[in-house]
Amino acid sequence: MNNFNFYSPTFFIFGKERENETGKYIKRFGGTNVLIHYGGGSVIKSGLLDRVKASLAAEDISFTELGGVMPNPRSGLVYKGIEICKNKKIDFVLAVGGGSTIDSSKAIALGALYDGDFWDFYEGKQVTSALPVATILTISAAGSEGSSGSVITHENGMLKRACGGDAMRPVFSILNPALTCTLPNYQTACGATDMMAHVMERYFTNTKDVEITDRLCEGILLTVIKEAPIALANPTDYESRANLMWAGMVAHNDICGVGRESDWSSHQMEHELSAFYDVAHGAGLAVMFPAWMKFVMHHDVMRFAQFAVRVWGCEMDFQQPEKTALEGIDRLEQFLISLGMPVRFSDMDAKKEDIPTLVKTLGLGSRTLGNFIKLTEKNVADIYELAN
Ligand code: NZQ
Ligand code: ZN
Repeated sequence: MNNFNFYSPTFFIFGKERENETGKYIKRFGGTNVLIHYGGGSVIKSGLLDRVKASLAAEDISFTELGGVMPNPRSGLVYKGIEICKNKKIDFVLAVGGGSTIDSSKAIALGALYDGDFWDFYEGKQVTSALPVATILTISAAGSEGSSGSVITHENGMLKRACGGDAMRPVFSILNPALTCTLPNYQTACGATDMMAHVMERYFTNTKDVEITDRLCEGILLTVIKEAPIALANPTDYESRANLMWAGMVAHNDICGVGRESDWSSHQMEHELSAFYDVAHGAGLAVMFPAWMKFVMHHDVMRFAQFAVRVWGCEMDFQQPEKTALEGIDRLEQFLISLGMPVRFSDMDAKKEDIPTLVKTLGLGSRTLGNFIKLTEKNVADIYELAN
């Protein structure tokens, strides 16, 4: 196991109707003048936004609203939010929604305390400070409610880039699983795929003797494999929603990633798909992950065989472990199909002839991508071909 630091200071407020305590917690965490940020309208339709505003009003907390975050959130609204924060002397950003809204809120919180262009941070500038951000989560997926990351698409060139720093970890996150019962099944499935991907990016590692994090990863995967079909069959099943909500958080606050090298190339290859075709992140991952697995499997067949046996219950073929490894990948792909996810370019209107553009926009040049195997541009093109 490698040396590590782990700092995950987010305060979690979990359970039914907990959003009614939002005002109390904003006060506890020092907010007096809040920007409430939300997406395309689901929180208005569900009545959640009104309940949140009432909770702030009950604590005499002033607020300004900014809605309109799109899935795969864009830079334009971030610039607008930063301007509002600076003009109105906002001291706290409250995200009400999914990963896109949370990531946009984190970007606004960063830019509000910075004189330059917030995009500098998405081009590698180190994050040192941000306004405090809190979240009220409405979809179990990205894990941004407990993560140090944010992913934004710059409209100039449609570049989708990530940035990270502990200053962006939410100070608190309210997780009421009942809020996710209004999700369309497609979004529930995209979310389940994303959480599995967050675990698998960490599971496929070159670091040896990481039994504790292997077992945590396997436990989360087994949970999602059990609970996602229940939530899809019965969207108002509170217990499956609750298990998925906490799974999404632990999948990505890095408790499963500490002490080991993780990969992240499937995520970066996917970000090109969601930027180029504006597909949901989880759907893009369902296409990219099995393709990446098939490409890298021979680098460590035994790890893939372990994944097949422990997560999918496959029988170990000691004579031909690659058969077991392949069976695990196939089981994953079949599971994603059963959730209603695309698994090939053609399932989501992506095109083989766009592959050179996808590779170019990724901008690797002579650098490599990922860690499990360090992928060259040519390897990336081959993996996109496998996904085709
Ligand atoms: O915008 P509204 O109207 O709220 O609708 C959203 C949106 O259309 C809808 N939705 C959310 N909660 C709902 C609901 N509809 C009905 N009832 C509810 N309770 O779902 C749609 C998708 O929302 P979005 O926020 O885009 O989903 P998700 O949480 O999957 O976020 C995806 C974004 O997160 C990034 C992805 O790249 C993508 O841009 N990621 C962020 C990470 C991070 N910050 O740590 C890590 C991830 O790997 C990921 O890259
Ligand atoms: Zn993800």
